[in-house]
Amino acid sequence: MSFQDPVIVIGHRGAAGLLPENTLPSFRRAWKSGVSAVELDVYTLEGRLLVIHDDTLDRTTNGQGPVMARAVAELRALDAGNGEPIPFLEEVTAELPESTGINIELKGPGTAAPVARFLAGQRRLDVLVSAFDHAELQRFHNLAPDIPAAPLFGSWKPAAWGIAEGVSARFINLSRRTASKRRIAQARQRGLGTLIYTVNDLAEATQLVSWGAAGLFTDFPDRITPDALAASIPD
Ligand code: G3P
Ligand code: MG
Repeated sequence: MSFQDPVIVIGHRGAAGLLPENTLPSFRRAWKSGVSAVELDVYTLEGRLLVIHDDTLDRTTNGQGPVMARAVAELRALDAGNGEPIPFLEEVTAELPESTGINIELKGPGTAAPVARFLAGQRRLDVLVSAFDHAELQRFHNLAPDIPAAPLFGSWKPAAWGIAEGVSARFINLSRRTASKRRIAQARQRGLGTLIYTVNDLAEATQLVSWGAAGLFTDFPDRITPDALAASIPD
């Protein structure tokens, strides 16, 4: 399964509803469920890429305070859930099945250049790079114009179309609150697929796909599978 799938199901932070988010077991659970791709969030410190969502450690680890204030060795000694460390990006990609895609979200400051460098040595990956920070995403696109990029929007802004065009996007990634039938149709008219986050209800997922969404992010890839979605969509 990949970003070419007719309906793209992306395991959000792995399988965040089933196992501690952004840990290796969570990613393994997602790809065992048959997802098209897994999504993860990256920060960079000391030239390394670490997979964690928040800018502070408190919610997902046994540490406290800002991620960026710590040394990599300190971060790696923390428990990110069930005794698992915060993974390095390369630990996830090393295990990623060849047929599964990966969506790298540029979450931390200054991630564009190290992610571009990392991906330059990873030609086999089916990858999509995204960010809410559209300036960071533009920097990434300028460094790696051949790697697909998708801007993220938590709320709608008319400038979205221009932002998408600036990074030659094939997808725009929208919050479920922003993903109306009309907006999905407008995106399609512009040749853009929409990937919607975070959808944990099969009926909602089915509706979004029936409106023409290209796919969605879910915390429960065991519940919202490409097969379940295909079976629930009327002919
Ligand atoms: O990329 C989809 C989704 O991950 C964006 O929101 O906050 O979960 O990173 P967030
Ligand atoms: Mg994310």
